[in-house]
Amino acid sequence: MKLSIQIASLAALFSAAIVNAATAPSYNSALSSWVNTKTIAAQTRLLANISPAGASAGAVAAATSTSNPNYWFHWTRDAGITLHEVSIWLNSTTDSATTDAYKQKLNDYSTFSRQLQTTSSTYGIGTAKYYMNGAPFTGAWCMPQRDSPAMRAVSLIGYARYLLSKGEDVSVYYDRKLPTTSIIKTDLEYVASNWNADNNNCDIWEEVRGNHFYTRMIQRRALIEGAQLASQLNDPGAAVYYNLQAGYISGNMTEFWSSTNNYIQTTIDYSGGLDYKASNLDSQVFLAALHSGLDDGFYTVESDQMLSTIVAIINAFQPLYGINSMNSAIVNSVSMPISVALGRYPEDKYTGYNSNGPGNPWSLITSGMAEYHYRLIETWSKDGSISVTSALSSFLDQLNSKYKIIFTNSYAVGTTYFSGSATYAEILSNLMLAGDMYMACVAFHTDSNGQMYEEWNLNTGYGQGAVNLTWSYGAHTAAARHRAAASKIVYGN
Ligand SMILES: *[C@@H]1O[C@H](CO)[C@@H](O)[C@H](O)[C@H]1NC(C)=O
Ligand SMILES: *[C@@H]1O[C@H](CO)[C@@H](O)[C@H](O)[C@H]1NC(C)=O
Ligand SMILES: *[C@@H]1O[C@H](CO)[C@@H](O)[C@H](O)[C@H]1NC(C)=O
Repeated sequence: MKLSIQIASLAALFSAAIVNAATAPSYNSALSSWVNTKTIAAQTRLLANISPAGASAGAVAAATSTSNPNYWFHWTRDAGITLHEVSIWLNSTTDSATTDAYKQKLNDYSTFSRQLQTTSSTYGIGTAKYYMNGAPFTGAWCMPQRDSPAMRAVSLIGYARYLLSKGEDVSVYYDRKLPTTSIIKTDLEYVASNWNADNNNCDIWEEVRGNHFYTRMIQRRALIEGAQLASQLNDPGAAVYYNLQAGYISGNMTEFWSSTNNYIQTTIDYSGGLDYKASNLDSQVFLAALHSGLDDGFYTVESDQMLSTIVAIINAFQPLYGINSMNSAIVNSVSMPISVALGRYPEDKYTGYNSNGPGNPWSLITSGMAEYHYRLIETWSKDGSISVTSALSSFLDQLNSKYKIIFTNSYAVGTTYFSGSATYAEILSNLMLAGDMYMACVAFHTDSNGQMYEEWNLNTGYGQGAVNLTWSYGAHTAAARHRAAASKIVYGN
């Protein structure tokens, strides 16, 4: 008797807890099954590109493609993004063999990174591209790229924090008394003293010289997290200096906003390089929210400026690619709605092989947009409320007008909707539908064996450009991780 009462009240509790869970669309399990199998494939392929045969241990191939195009190089930024991803996997694994395998990759990458820092080259710490044996690239190239050491620092700070949490020694990474041999400190000192050195710095696509939103945001993250590490490791003077510079970067970010265009411009203080990027609108701006977001509201996914930039990006890319006329596709034998595919910037002429145009949509950028939507869900779930600004209202309007996602509950500018209300629940579940449309777009254009490229041909949708692009795999695994978190919030599983 008592037992059945307990069961009955448990059942009541359980149904109370799931009363707000949305019903997943019928294609959800087909998409989930694609995501899950391809995540395992992407992890394997990403790991295969770290310390591949024929390269120094710790070198990260940007892609396995060695000709047309040749991406068989270690790019500091791409490697940093990749190993940051591995350190996140490391944090959540409990299996000891997997832990050891990830640590081996991170340790080799650390040793290799130290070798690069101490090899003399024209651009020093700002060198963006190395041969797979660690020699600096000697051909003509757009350098320095000052996001690169910042991204390397972010990746190693994440790993150093893991090691500290296990009580391990991190002096090769950061030691106040060994400033010239500490890998992280070497990069932080460079970033802190060079972030505003000149306007000759190349952007992450290695084409334009000036000062770039993405670069500044990664530098800011590196300095803020670097200051936290410095404090933890008893280096208070450095912590003050890194925080001071991070504060200056923050204070100088407002220049990127264009109120005329209503979006964040990718480059200011232009000084050379590619000269036909007239819109100054670029997907690297929203990648910055994914790679540098610190949950502090500073140009994070839910910020008004970011949301307005997303609206502009989707409007700009939709008409550019033939494949964007599709609005549904078959994934795992099931038809589902798909989003538009997204590229780097509207004026792009890089085909994956040469710059004779037209430019194509990119896998990592479309995965990134899926992640963006999942992160909005995570953010607002944590907040427990959504304040509808006019930027958010335009963003939600676009989901309806471009993707036919229906809102039965109206959302009003100036109103805050709290967890438990129908409007709040519907905004989150509609964001899930939208994120999944980007995920489904990636699924449809990815080879059935999981092999990813840099790009998809704008008209056929087939893989084009560098095959096995490491960053495409990392962007997929990151999107899949955030999808799982968002799905728990929206569907309860
Ligand atoms: C892609 O990488 C995998 C290893 O992850 C390799 O087996 C395959 O041959 C590569 N594909 C091409 C076309 O190079
Ligand atoms: C890994 O976990 C540590 C300890 O909890 C944390 O400080 C660090 O930020 C985490 N790293 C990443 C990359 O999330
Ligand atoms: C912008 O950066 C400079 C240092 O380069 C700093 O002196 C200035 O205070 C910063 N501006 C703001 C508004 O923080």
